[in-house]
Amino acid sequence: MTSYGWHQAKQSWAWLVGSREYTNFAYELATENVADSPQRRVMDPEPRYERRTAGYAIVPATCPQQVVEAGVNKGLGSCVFSAALLRNADEGHHGRLTALDINRDAGTLIGGKCASVIGLRYGDSIAMLAASASPVDLFFHGSDQHYDHESAEHRAVAGSLTESALVLTDNGGPALSDLGKFCGRRCLMFREDPADHWALGGVLGVVMRVAP
Ligand SMILES: C[S@@+](CC[C@H](N)C(=O)[O-])C[C@H]1O[C@@H](n2cnc3c(N)ncnc32)[C@H](O)[C@@H]1O
Repeated sequence: MTSYGWHQAKQSWAWLVGSREYTNFAYELATENVADSPQRRVMDPEPRYERRTAGYAIVPATCPQQVVEAGVNKGLGSCVFSAALLRNADEGHHGRLTALDINRDAGTLIGGKCASVIGLRYGDSIAMLAASASPVDLFFHGSDQHYDHESAEHRAVAGSLTESALVLTDNGGPALSDLGKFCGRRCLMFREDPADHWALGGVLGVVMRVAP
């Protein structure tokens, strides 16, 4: 048996004796490099993706060619986006993620297969967005959450957004709804409800074009 076959057989056995979920096959999403990351001492061994899982659903639903994420930190969100892009590529829809962060230590989780679809660039998000003319199908704001910075990011990317582009943020608020008004697109927000955690949770916001 190949090593993959052994791995699957071992995991099937562990699932058979350890899981009560026989109908949905529920599992965590794979994230690469957590155990190897230089930042592993300031991370839980099991990553919790919270609102980032929205990206894992939106990417297959919209098949973007160019995703831009402003604000990378360790790269948890980038890994979720790239996992979805790699799934799309298996089905013939190729796309890439450009990940922007001002901190040169950002992105330590980005490696392995997920790095093949990510271009990590360091610098100020507003300056880098303003300097790029490439079309953007999905823009994720996750950097400096102050209204002025977020609004300036939106203004810098607005001219590059494709007709059907989505703009997402994990701190939905006035800057995002102003963008919706400015470009005549619908703005929706969803508040997370964290379980067993002191954090209040974020607000996933999306600006999108809705058919008339
Ligand atoms: C909340 S973290 C991003 C979280 C990330 N999206 C995730 O999924 O884990 C915010 C990041 O924004 C970056 N940042 C702050 N100001 C920035 C700026 N002006 N330009 C680019 N990145 C910035 C910080 O360095 C930090 O890594």
